[in-house]
Amino acid sequence: MQWNELLASGQILKIAGMLAAAACLICGAAHPVQAAELKKKMLVVYFSMPETDDPRGMTRDEANSVVVVDGKVLGNTQYVAQLIQERTGADIFRILPQNPYPTAHDALVGQAKEEQRQKARPAISGAVAGMAQYDVVFLGYPNWWADMPMIVYTFLESYDLSGKTVIPFCTHGGSGFSRTIQTIAAKQPGANVMQDGYALSRSRMEEAPAGVTEWLEELGFKK
Ligand SMILES: Cc1cc2nc3c(=O)[nH]c(=O)nc-3n(C[C@H](O)[C@H](O)[C@H](O)COP(=O)(O)O)c2cc1C
Repeated sequence: MQWNELLASGQILKIAGMLAAAACLICGAAHPVQAAELKKKMLVVYFSMPETDDPRGMTRDEANSVVVVDGKVLGNTQYVAQLIQERTGADIFRILPQNPYPTAHDALVGQAKEEQRQKARPAISGAVAGMAQYDVVFLGYPNWWADMPMIVYTFLESYDLSGKTVIPFCTHGGSGFSRTIQTIAAKQPGANVMQDGYALSRSRMEEAPAGVTEWLEELGFKK
């Protein structure tokens, strides 16, 4: 069964509803980010897998996974990451795999499922320079099979984010964050992982510019 068939069957939504209710109980315990955070050193880290780089003649799957801005093709999560970076002045690091993923949709979906089944930790190309200098880390990814892509686990297991504020964001096809925020908090117990991250459906990408601005302002990141 494909992830979107599962979604259509309503099972994921039911589970998501229960989890959202549970998450609300936890929300109260999260520390809100204050305006003073703006003076802190910030980094946007993201993974994104646009399924084409050609804006012409896209298939439906390709169009679903990208945003075209000024003729340039960006992955959905890449677009949100760039908006956050523009609005906060943060540094930015893209998680790129050492072995590139296939861009063909079915092959990509199959490989992602297999990596999840094997609890794979795909190697990352490059590294964040001087992670210690950052106080705030925005962490973005697409929802893959109701989880983070396994390469984001590689990232979380490669760095100690203790003492930092970690702010998740994701793009998705209907599942929102699934349980990923809880997973990030479990992987980084010393970090202050914010519960109210920004999740945007791939079918509403046109809302990203205003949505990101509003969300950042609510968090106290107004420039
Ligand atoms: C391998 C794969 C698995 C996916 N699994 C889910 C899922 O379980 N739930 C969901 O809502 N969306 C799922 N999606 C849709 C993506 O989350 C969505 O298209 C996202 O915006 C892609 O972001 P990107 O272009 O930055 O990679 C999946 C997409 C792919 C390629």
